[in-house]
Amino acid sequence: MTEHRPMTEASPVKVPTLPDAQTITDVKHWTDRLFSFRCTRPASLRFRSGEFVMIGLMGDPDPKTGKQKPLLRAYSIASPSWDEELEFYSIKVQDGPLTSKLQHIQAGDEIILRPKPVGTLVHDALLPGKRIWFFATGTGFAPFASLLREPQTYEDYDEVIITHTCREAGELEYGAELIENLKHDELLNEVIGEGFWKKIKYYPTTTREESAKMGRITDLIRSGEAYADLGVDPINPDNDRAMICGNLAFNLELKAMLEEYGLEEGANSKPAQYVVEKAFLD
Ligand code: A2P
Repeated sequence: MTEHRPMTEASPVKVPTLPDAQTITDVKHWTDRLFSFRCTRPASLRFRSGEFVMIGLMGDPDPKTGKQKPLLRAYSIASPSWDEELEFYSIKVQDGPLTSKLQHIQAGDEIILRPKPVGTLVHDALLPGKRIWFFATGTGFAPFASLLREPQTYEDYDEVIITHTCREAGELEYGAELIENLKHDELLNEVIGEGFWKKIKYYPTTTREESAKMGRITDLIRSGEAYADLGVDPINPDNDRAMICGNLAFNLELKAMLEEYGLEEGANSKPAQYVVEKAFLD
């Protein structure tokens, strides 16, 4: 692990002490558009797997006053609730206000993290069921990276189907590696039960680059191809529960499809059959 920079270390530039500062412990770049990072976890932070927090950096100084304000965005926590560190999975947008800067963070740097987790992609917002579908596009995989490592997911369901649609094959790598690693995770296999990962059916697809399976998940479900590939029965409101996290158009289309199947949207205050949340995109 990288040695943490002591908070008291004299800095050559006058950097304001960040409010709610956490220290980056690891950064991994997956493609020129995607990266993930880990940071320290505030001792007081409790969250439910699938929730998000506001994170960010100090913005540029105001040209008139020289004052800096925090630049924060909602990020799903990609690590599970039991992990001693926090993990995030982010897009890099070259002219994005936050990610144009955030993509350059390195181990030892600080970020701002407001320790107030919220969100609807939580088990509490769903009624009991037999099978759960996690539907993601792009960085919308992040809350499922948390939930796939959460013991409750396997206690609550017999089958866990995770679909991930991305433009290019390289964008699937973070998720593919994470799911592959579950097989060899000694701690999880001991805590949840040996071979728990056999409950997972992983269905990655790409839309703009050749890969083993091409097409939008919405189209693949509509045509029945996804069910045939997975060897599963069509979605039904008695057995199936779903969580959706992706870009806005995807969320809306899938939401409409699930409603057609007879599933109803749930919330923390009123659990039902599916929940939806927008992935952070700039
Ligand atoms: P497509 O390439 O056909 O637009 P983005 O990177 O723009 O957020 O998109 C991530 C993935 O989500 C892409 O593969 C994209 O497919 C797909 N996508 C975008 N809109 C929809 C939608 N309405 N239904 C299903 N998939 C979608």
